Amino acid sequence: MLIRTHVGISLDGFLATPDGRPTWDAIPTFDGTSHGHDDFTALIDAVVIGRSSFDQAAAEWLVNSPWPGKPVYVLTSQPLPTGSSDAGFIASQGGPAGLVKQLREANLARDVQVLGGSRTIQAFLELGAIDRLGIVVLPILLGKGIPLFAIDPAPFSKQAWDAHLASPSASPARPLLRLDHQRQYRDGSVELVYQS
Ligand SMILES: NC(=O)c1ccc[n+]([C@@H]2O[C@H](COP(=O)([O-])OP(=O)(O)OC[C@H]3O[C@@H](n4cnc5c(N)ncnc54)[C@H](OP(=O)(O)O)[C@@H]3O)[C@@H](O)[C@H]2O)c1
Repeated sequence: MLIRTHVGISLDGFLATPDGRPTWDAIPTFDGTSHGHDDFTALIDAVVIGRSSFDQAAAEWLVNSPWPGKPVYVLTSQPLPTGSSDAGFIASQGGPAGLVKQLREANLARDVQVLGGSRTIQAFLELGAIDRLGIVVLPILLGKGIPLFAIDPAPFSKQAWDAHLASPSASPARPLLRLDHQRQYRDGSVELVYQS
């Protein structure tokens, strides 16, 4: 069982628009099955979603799950609404680490998709629990939105540069992720899947 993402982001790194719309839905060429979705879904036996993303669509999903027959684990510290369990939604127990344990103990034959949002993917990354970090870079610049990765911008500082020149070994080269595969789509989107 591998834990995977297949997350659509803008070229400037946002997985959702400022109003919380997934970036997938902000491009005209995405139809819900395109951009490798069908191939990816065929690998997946369970889905993980963060509570904020779940809450966006819960009213609809509790009636009509987009993942019929597949358990959907919600990363949350709060109880789920009534009817969630019958609709296949399971609340995490014990935070992200507890959720990884729940997934490992679920004896899934195939893989798990960590759908998002960004805080959920980041929590899994921090645990080293993402086996395949799949990102589909969509050919759109948003300028503003919810970034996939926590961003801590640092303006250029002559002081920091001078400190680096004085002691270059203090900021060594980072280890590389290994590219597992890549794919290009007709609209100019590029899928990158890294082993992490
Ligand atoms: N582009 C895509 O493929 C894609 C996919 C999915 C979602 N999205 C978008 O992502 C946006 C939401 O992302 P988000 O980052 O704000 O929220 P999120 O990851 O969907 O959910 C965050 C919630 O997860 C729960 N959580 C519990 N423990 C946590 C921990 N240790 N670390 C992080 N979260 C923890 C918290 O809920 P509690 O308060 O209940 O504890 C937290 O509020 C939405 O706009 C959605 O449309 C995009």
